[in-house]
Amino acid sequence: MFDDFDSFDDGDGFGDVDSGDFVKFGTLTELKQKKSLNRKIIGKWVSVFLDENMEPYALEMSCKHQGANLAEGKISNNVVTCPRHFWQYDIRTGKAITEYSPNLRKHAIRIREDDLYVSIRPVMR
Ligand code: FES
Repeated sequence: MFDDFDSFDDGDGFGDVDSGDFVKFGTLTELKQKKSLNRKIIGKWVSVFLDENMEPYALEMSCKHQGANLAEGKISNNVVTCPRHFWQYDIRTGKAITEYSPNLRKHAIRIREDDLYVSIRPVMR
């Protein structure tokens, strides 16, 4: 189930919730009720998905092909399939499964009690 990520750096290079690197994105309760949570962070749409272990992951929301909304895609085996032309991405890493696609930008996540926070900037790789 959900770990409390708030009190440590999980290797993504960001600090804790109070570091100024994060915005409140929603709640875990909401996320469990829906397929994804979606909102704009500094003008870019970001989606949070749950993997098969119920761990949340945040990725840019637009497909690298023609910008379709990946939050409307099908998720199976931790892979989201774009609803428009079926390019695929690993929801835990943003890595493209479709070989000619660039990877999606991934954002860091922190959890404090039921609140879910997403990094303002993507994780540098
Ligand atoms: S817009 Fe996603 S595969 Fe074409």
